[in-house]
Amino acid sequence: MLHLAFAALGSLHLLTSVSAQTWCNKNYMSSQPVVPPGGNFPMAAPSADPLLAFRCAAAMKPYLEEDVGTPAGVLVDSPVVYSVISGAEPIDLPSGPLSSAGNLDVTVSLNGKTLAKALVPLNASAYELPFSLNGITPQMTPYNLSCEATYLATNSAASSSSTQTYSASAALSVLPNPTNSSVTKMDLRTGALLARPATGLGGEYEPIFPIGFYTTFDGYLSTNLSAIDILKEQG
Ligand SMILES: *[C@@H]1O[C@H](CO)[C@@H](O)[C@H](O)[C@H]1NC(C)=O
Ligand SMILES: *[C@@H]1O[C@H](CO)[C@@H](O)[C@H](O)[C@H]1NC(C)=O
Ligand SMILES: *[C@@H]1O[C@H](CO)[C@@H](O)[C@H](O)[C@H]1NC(C)=O
Ligand SMILES: *[C@@H]1O[C@H](CO)[C@@H](O)[C@H](O)[C@H]1NC(C)=O
Repeated sequence: MLHLAFAALGSLHLLTSVSAQTWCNKNYMSSQPVVPPGGNFPMAAPSADPLLAFRCAAAMKPYLEEDVGTPAGVLVDSPVVYSVISGAEPIDLPSGPLSSAGNLDVTVSLNGKTLAKALVPLNASAYELPFSLNGITPQMTPYNLSCEATYLATNSAASSSSTQTYSASAALSVLPNPTNSSVTKMDLRTGALLARPATGLGGEYEPIFPIGFYTTFDGYLSTNLSAIDILKEQG
């Protein structure tokens, strides 16, 4: 059945490429004219004043019941931008460099209970706040973390007199241990996918190299695996 599906797709692919010479609806041969493919992301509107795009996310997706008792983390982003990007809100900054403009006092909570509280610099990326999963009951539906930030300006006279607060939320998955299946985790600190060894004999979660159609195109990984290290070096 699976073979049949692939055969059908294969011949469909041949037919379209022979008749139209496009891949994924795009010209791909050097002899073909350049056709703007469209579908560009819209440019964010510029902002004359600084904006803070406060965001948070669980460091690992998902956490498992067996992770309760080991440290967990929430990642906080605090980019200061001059573009109207998603979630960006005005921030009244003192003059001078951002590095001396103060911090955000960030509190992460779940159903009103504080899990983590720390100062986070402005314009940080994936700044990790550790927290404990103790007391969080594993369940199939994700929890909703609430992240609140209050801007503590170094020179309050230079910035607005009113308190500047920002909020964001993030899904936190704490799943029951799998009984009849395996789990692939996403480590948001690095973007790596983690899995246990495929031997079925257990072992630690380790980064895996996902292989898809283009990863092995023309079979180039079959004879020489050093490309994987090169890709790793390139991030
Ligand atoms: C924030 O950090 C980014 C990346 O490091 C940098 O390009 C940008 O200039 C910084 N923003 C401000 C307002 O300093
Ligand atoms: C999570 O909670 C925030 C408020 O703290 C709410 O705005 C958001 O819609 C909630 N998200 C989900 C998926 O329930
Ligand atoms: C695997 O386990 C889950 C959770 O106990 C259950 O809902 C599901 O039906 C099981 N699947 C199979 C194929 O046994
Ligand atoms: C493997 O590929 C790398 C570059 O991708 C190349 O530098 C190296 O010489 C190749 N090794 C062999 C044995 O072909």
